[in-house]
Order: sequence, then C-alpha cells, then structure tokens
Amino acid sequence: MSTIKACIFDLDGVIVDTAVYHYKAWKRLANELGFDFTEEDNEKLKGVSRVRSLEIILAIGGVTKTPAEQAELAARKNEWYVDMISHMTPAEILPGAKAFLETCRAEGIKTALGSASKNSMTILNKIGLAHLFDAIVDGNHVSKAKPDPEVFLKGAQAVGVTPAECVVFEDAIAGVQAAINGGMKVVGIGLPSVLAEANIVVSGLDKITLAEIEKL
Ligand code: BG6
Ligand code: MG
Repeated sequence: MSTIKACIFDLDGVIVDTAVYHYKAWKRLANELGFDFTEEDNEKLKGVSRVRSLEIILAIGGVTKTPAEQAELAARKNEWYVDMISHMTPAEILPGAKAFLETCRAEGIKTALGSASKNSMTILNKIGLAHLFDAIVDGNHVSKAKPDPEVFLKGAQAVGVTPAECVVFEDAIAGVQAAINGGMKVVGIGLPSVLAEANIVVSGLDKITLAEIEKL
C-alpha cells in the first residue's frame, strides 16, 4: 500500500518550458536599460520570483532603480511575458506531463500545482491542463519564496494530506530545497549534478512512473 497520497508539481520547467519566454522578456528589458542579458544569466532565474529576478538582472547590469521604478520595470516585463504566453498551446506541454497527471487521477492520488508564478492560471488555461489539478497554489497565494516550503505546504493542505504523504516535482534547486524543508519527498526534473539533493532525478515526467515514486 502506497503512502503517497498527493503529487505536487512545479509549473515552469516541469509541466511546460516557459524559461524561453521569461528570457526573451527579461532580455528585452535589459537591452532597453542599456546592457545585455545572456542565456547563462537566465539560468539564475529558475524558480526565482519576479521581484527577485529583476533585482538579479539590475545587479548584472550594475543599474540602481528606486522601488517605484522597479515596480514599473517588473510590470513592463510582465506585459511582454503575458503577451507571449497568451499564444501558448497544448503542443507546448512537456513530454509525459499530461499522462502523468491523468495516471495520478486514475489511481486516486491528489494533484496540486506549487508554482512561484503569478501567471500560472493563464498558462494552465492556454495548455488545457487546469482541470487535472485538485488545487492550484501559486505566486498569488504565498508570501515566502522557495526555498521556503510555504507554496508546497499550502498545496498539501489544500488537498487534505500531510507533507510526508506528498511527492514534489521540481526543476529548480530552490524548489528541491523547498520540498525538503517542507518534509516532502522530491523528484528532480533535470540534471543529477545540479539537483543532487532530490530523492531521484530524471529528465522529465515521461521518465518516471508512480510505481517508482512509491518506492522512494
Ligand atoms: C517561476 C519561474 O516558476 O515563476 C521564474 O521559474 C519566474 O523564472 C517565477 O520568475 C515568477 O513568474 P511570474 O510569471 O509571476 O513572473
Ligand atoms: Mg520551475
């Protein structure tokens, strides 16, 4: 008998690959401010909140802005980002993600989203997966960013299970740490060298089964 009662999924990098859209929008903003922003720099923003991402970018450019200017810059970037994600389609769902969610549902395992993004509903509606989640917790519902476990603990609470009964799926180091900090098992999605703290690391949801997760 499995002790796993819920699977909690990060969105960006686990269900869909939106990093490219974040990158394009941040790069455009950096360029408007007079400096460049590379794909390598973009790696530093995985799992990081919008506000914190802007701070990292301004530090890269050696640019100082007032809080009011920062709010305007973050809003400008988000407008471009929302414009891009509004064209997303189900074809952009990462391999195995939809099937994995459907299997959870068929096996009676609860599903929750645990994302830092404030745009998660827009994305889930565009890719047509919103109906496969029992609970959606995102950047609109939390005050503490990963590696704080708040987003995952709220997800567990929303589906009525304890942290020990959850498995989290994460592609960001801060997200893996958030799951561990919350007392949950965690499947890293990405490279074992990067996500070494996870219980197991695979390249995508098409590379793992519920049977394997139950043995973690
Ligand atoms: C995370 C992404 O899921 O959401 C980060 O990995 C992003 O790159 C963060 O900054 C916040 O997203 P949004 O959509 O609220 O700007
Ligand atoms: Mg992610």
